[in-house]
Amino acid sequence: MTRTPWIGGNWKSNGTVASICELSKELNQASFNPSQTQVVLFPTALHISLAKEKLKNEFQVGCQNISKTGAGAYTGEITAEMVADMGLKWVMVGHSERRQYYGETNEVVAEKVAMAAKQEGLNIVICIGEKLEERESNKTMEVCRTQMEAVIPKITNWDRVVIAYEPVWAIGTGKVATPEQAQEVHHELRKFVSERVGANVAASLRIVYGGSVSDSNCVSLIKCEDVDGFLVGGASLKKAFVDIIGAPS
Ligand code: G3H
Repeated sequence: MTRTPWIGGNWKSNGTVASICELSKELNQASFNPSQTQVVLFPTALHISLAKEKLKNEFQVGCQNISKTGAGAYTGEITAEMVADMGLKWVMVGHSERRQYYGETNEVVAEKVAMAAKQEGLNIVICIGEKLEERESNKTMEVCRTQMEAVIPKITNWDRVVIAYEPVWAIGTGKVATPEQAQEVHHELRKFVSERVGANVAASLRIVYGGSVSDSNCVSLIKCEDVDGFLVGGASLKKAFVDIIGAPS
C-alpha cells in the first residue's frame, strides 16, 4: 500500500505579521508536488488568512484547534463548521500542549473529533503520545491505545484522518525518538487499527511522527516503513522546513 506522505508544520502560538511574511517567502522556495507530498501549515487562527495569502498554493493551511461545541454562546471558540465554512480542509485535535495546559482529556478530544467528523471535507490530524514517565514504565502502547480508543468511535471516514504520534518527551526538547523507537510505535499503532477497525483502513492510514523533527533527522525517520511523514513544531518556523518537506522524495 502506497501512502502519500503528509508533512504538517505546527506554528503553535508564534508569529507576527512581519515574521509570517518573511517565513512564507522562505517556505515558498520549497519545490514539491502536492499530489506526491501533502504539506499543511497550522498558524494561529488569527494568522490563517495571512498565511493563506502569502504561501503559495501548493501549501494547505489548517486550524490548530477547534471547539468541542457547535455555534452559540461559547466565547472565544471556533467551531469545526466555521473552519469548513472558511474553506479550510484541515484541523488538528489532541495536541499534547492542549491536553497538558488546557485540560483536554481523551473525552474532550473525542468530542472535538466528532465535531470535525460531521463536516464533510474536513480532515483531522489526531495527536497522541506518551509522557516520559509513561515510557519509562513501559506504558507507551497502553497510553497510545487508550488515546486511540477514545476517538475511534467518532471517526466516520478514515480517509480524512492522519494520526500524529508525538511522544511528549520529544516535543520541543531536541530529544528526538530514534527511528527504531518511532517505527516500533507506528507499527504497533497500525496493528491496533487493523485489529480494531480493519486491515484496509490500517494499510492506508497515514501515521506521522512529531517531536524535535529537524532537517538533520528527518531522512532517517522517513525511511521507517510505518512513518508516513511528520508533524513539525519549531523547525517549521525556519527555512529548515524546506529540507524536511523534501525528505520523502
Ligand atoms: O506539533 C508539533 C510537535 O509538538 C513537535 O514540536 O518539533 O518543536 O518538537 P517540535
